[in-house]
Amino acid sequence: MKDMVAIILAAGEGTRMKSGLPKVLHQVCGKPMIEYVIDRLEELNIDKKIVIIGYKGNLVKETLGKKVDYIWQKEQLGTGHALAQCREILAKFKGDLLVLSGDTPLLTTQTLKRLIEVQREKNALATILTAILKPPTGYGRVVRHGDGTIRKIVEEEDATIIELANEEVNAGTYCFKKEAIFQALEKIRPENVQEEYYLTDAIEVLTRKGHRVEACTTDEADEIIGINSRKDLSLATKIMREHILDRLMLNGVTIIDPLTTTIDREVEIGRDTIIYPFTIVEGKTKIGQDCIIGPAVQIKDSKIAHKVEIKNSSVQNSIIESEARIGPYAHLRPESRIGKKAKIGNFVEIKKSTIGKESKVSHMSYIGDATLGENINIGAGTITCNYDGFKKYPTYIEDKVFVGSNTNFIAPVKIGKGAVIGAGSTITEDVPPYALAIARGRQRNIKGWAKKKTQRK
Ligand code: UD1
Ligand code: CA
Repeated sequence: MKDMVAIILAAGEGTRMKSGLPKVLHQVCGKPMIEYVIDRLEELNIDKKIVIIGYKGNLVKETLGKKVDYIWQKEQLGTGHALAQCREILAKFKGDLLVLSGDTPLLTTQTLKRLIEVQREKNALATILTAILKPPTGYGRVVRHGDGTIRKIVEEEDATIIELANEEVNAGTYCFKKEAIFQALEKIRPENVQEEYYLTDAIEVLTRKGHRVEACTTDEADEIIGINSRKDLSLATKIMREHILDRLMLNGVTIIDPLTTTIDREVEIGRDTIIYPFTIVEGKTKIGQDCIIGPAVQIKDSKIAHKVEIKNSSVQNSIIESEARIGPYAHLRPESRIGKKAKIGNFVEIKKSTIGKESKVSHMSYIGDATLGENINIGAGTITCNYDGFKKYPTYIEDKVFVGSNTNFIAPVKIGKGAVIGAGSTITEDVPPYALAIARGRQRNIKGWAKKKTQRK
C-alpha cells in the first residue's frame, strides 16, 4: 500500500495482566496477540511497520524478529507520547499513518481497509475506528456534536456520567495525516486522572481547530476487543476459538463438541477428519484427511498424515504416517516418527524413535532413542534401557523381529533382521539375524516343595 506507514503501540507493561511477560506477547490461540495485528498489516501490503517498544522491549523484539522496525519509548507516559516517538524517523514521510494497539488481535483486514478508505475518500486529517459496545465499560467513549460529527474521545476515568452512558467506544485504531497528528500531539497535556499523554486528546485538539474528524464504525463489535486483563484475554480467546472451529467445519472437518475442543490458529486439518471431545491441537500441527482424533487427545507441533486414529493420547513434535493407530493412553514425545499402518497401543511411551511400517508396540512399553524397522512385533512390557545415568544410547531393531513380552534392551544394542527374543530376556549383546536370543534364568521345578512347607507350618 502506497504512502502508508503502520505504527503499533506496544510499549506498555500491561499492569492489569499482573504478569512478568509484556502484555502484547500473551498468546491467543497459540500466537502472541501482537502477531495477529502484524498479520493483518501484511495482508494489507503495508511494507513499513513500526512497533513502539518499552517494557521488556527486547523480548518483544526477539519474538517478532525482522518483519517490523522498532522505536523505543523509554518511559511509558501514555499512548500520545508513544506515537510522538516516531516523529524523527518519519521526518521525511508525507503520507498517512495507520495507528494500532498491540492488544487488539481480533481486528479484521476488511475493517482496516474500510477505515483507510474513509480516510482517503474524505481526504480527512484523522479517522477513528469505533464500535457500539454493550456494555462499553473499559473503553474511551466517542463524543459527537448534535449534528453527529466527532467532537472528542473521553477516557472512562475522566468521563462524566452522561458520557459514560455513551455506548460508542474508541477501538484504539486510527488513520491520521502525519503532519496533522504530530502537530496536534504537541498540544496534549497529561492533565487527566491517569496523568498520561493521551493520544485520544489529539482528536479534540483537531476538532477545536475546526478540522473535521471522521469515524468508521464497525458492525462487528467483537473485533475491536482490547486485551487489558486476563479476563479480556479469555474472552478474546473464546471468540477466536469459535472463529477457528467455524472455519474448520466449513472446510469439512467434523467437530463433535466445539465447546470442549481447542484448536490453535495455525493448525491445518483435512476434510472428513473427525475431532472427538476434549481434544487440544496446538502450534503448527497439520492433520490429514479421514483421521479420527480424540476423545481427549493433545497434539502439538506435529504432522499427522491421512486415516490416522489417535485416542486419549499426547503427541508432541512428532510425525505419524498414514493409517497408523495410536492409543488409548500413548505418549509420543518429541522427534518420534511412526510409520504407515504402525500401531502404538495402551500405555506406551515413545521418545525420539522411529517405528517402521506395520510395526506394533501394543502394550505398556518404553521405546527411547530407538530405530525400529518394518513388521516388528514388540511384546507387552518391553523396555529400551537407553540411559546409564550419564549418557543416552541407541537401540536398533531390524525388520520382522519378534520381541517376547517383558524384554529389556540394554543399549547400545542391535537386533538383526528376523531374530526372535524370548520373553523376559535382558538383552545386553547384539543378536544376529534370524537367531533366537534367550537371556533369563532357567526355570527349576522342585517337586513337592510347597506341600512340605505347609506340613512344617
Ligand atoms: C486505549 C484508548 C481508549 C480505547 C482503548 C481501546 C488511550 C488514552 N485510550 O485505552 O480510548 O478505548 O485503548 O482498546 O489511548 N502503550 C504504549 N505506551 C504507553 C502507553 C500505552 O505503547 O505509554 C501501548 C500499550 O502497550 C497498548 C496500547 O498502547 O498496546 C494501548 O494502551 P492501553 O493501556 O491498553 O490503553 P487502554 O487503556 O486500553
Ligand atoms: Ca488496551
